Amino acid sequence: MDNLTVIVLAAGGGTRMKSKTMKVLHPVAGRSMIAHVLRAVQAVEPERIVAVVGHQRDQVGPHITSLVPDAVLAVQETQDGTGHAVRIAMEAAATRGEVTGTVIVSAGDTPMLRGESLRAFAREHTDSGRAVSILTGRVADPTGYGRIVRGADGSVVAIVEEKDATEAQRAIDEINSGILAFDAAFLARALPRLSNANANGEYYLTDTVSIARADGLTVGAHLIDDVSETEGANDRAQLAELGRQLNARIVKAWMKEGVTVMDPATTWIEDDVVLERDVTILPNTQLLGATVVREDAVVGPDTTLKDCEVGAGARVVRTHGELAVVGDGATVGPFSYLRPGTQLGATSKVGAFVETKNAVLGEGAKVPHLSYVGDATIGEATNIGAGTIFANYDGVSKHRTVVGAHARTGSNNTFVAPVTIGDGAATGGGAVVRQDVPPGALVVPGATQRVIENWVLRRRPGTKQAEAAEGATGAHGESVDPQQ
Ligand code: UD1
Ligand code: CA
Repeated sequence: MDNLTVIVLAAGGGTRMKSKTMKVLHPVAGRSMIAHVLRAVQAVEPERIVAVVGHQRDQVGPHITSLVPDAVLAVQETQDGTGHAVRIAMEAAATRGEVTGTVIVSAGDTPMLRGESLRAFAREHTDSGRAVSILTGRVADPTGYGRIVRGADGSVVAIVEEKDATEAQRAIDEINSGILAFDAAFLARALPRLSNANANGEYYLTDTVSIARADGLTVGAHLIDDVSETEGANDRAQLAELGRQLNARIVKAWMKEGVTVMDPATTWIEDDVVLERDVTILPNTQLLGATVVREDAVVGPDTTLKDCEVGAGARVVRTHGELAVVGDGATVGPFSYLRPGTQLGATSKVGAFVETKNAVLGEGAKVPHLSYVGDATIGEATNIGAGTIFANYDGVSKHRTVVGAHARTGSNNTFVAPVTIGDGAATGGGAVVRQDVPPGALVVPGATQRVIENWVLRRRPGTKQAEAAEGATGAHGESVDPQQ
């Protein structure tokens, strides 16, 4: 919008969070509270965004500029109230040219606020030509909020803060959301007139309402449909509640886009995740970061994927994955651990109790059971035997193992990297592969099996083990010197 400045207030300490992390930096649904607010603000396309920072500004300032590089940061050294904060913001904004048109003020801790709601509010304010517009909400419990006091004709007369309110005013259930819109010229005139003669000894931005009325200007209120959009989090319990609500909104939106979610209450989807149609998400699943799930894939139950890409028609069951790519039609799990750099080709398989890291599996390659695959390339259609360890670490450096296409390796192998196993090669069970294996060769594991007949009967006479052996073989152990 032309001629629009948005001021985001984020200087408060947030002491009730009891955290070394500043309140507005606490994440919900995958991004900080202030990042959600800034996204809603950016949706309105303001000419400038001013953020007021104070407490822990060395944390907050850089975070804001990383999200909105051209935001103006205004520093409020002491938190003397919302009116004081806005005055500092207006001074900082003026360094980028005269502030005219509309100024919107919003808190930094209301992550549920939608861009569309803010835009509708801004438009209504601008069209109305009012001095001040207040985004208000009707709530069951107005405790702690500023109350909207209306005159006999229904017009807004004042906003009265909880601590300054009379008993009758406290009963009012229409509250100030903390989001206000101003005519810039009026705001500039009103701010120096604010007084701190109130219960908190602060300069209240909300007193601009009575100043406007005293000047004979119009003040209006816009009652928001969904009050949850203006809810802030002051402590961790409220943070969790907002997280739940935000998640419910995201999950619902994906269901509307054609995603099946069996249990929305136990499905957590962060804001940047992308899901295609006919994806199915089973209970207890978290899709985090920049995860993408393509058409017809099924994820869950009991799965956490962060920054992963799951291909069309893939199946990921009871898995923990991070920075991994699962190819089209591939299957993963149950109980698999995909670490960064995992790239599973189309129709490949990673099975139960398999951990992968920097591992590239070709199309149709399989690591079905109980294996560690670190720093490896496995060619297409190769099958890795159960219980195989890709020994990638010599105690100093990591090395890579390359297995060719269509190879068949035996159970309980150890591949001591760096080592290469050629296309179509085979290895026997228990092989420890230390040297390169040519294509098509068979590795016969080291020592031939030595069998010492009746060893148990001789060395463990009288035990259950010996008894069992005796029963089966009919042999009798000679008693021998146990020192032998
Ligand atoms: C404020 C409003 C109240 C409204 C409520 C909605 C005032 C006087 N009261 O009350 O009418 O119902 O929000 O949540 O405006 N901040 C600064 N600098 C300061 C003080 C505050 O940047 O000096 C920031 C805070 O970090 C926060 C926002 O302004 O983001 C609101 O401040 P807060 O102290 O939470 O105001 P409330 O008492 O909740
Ligand atoms: Ca507050």
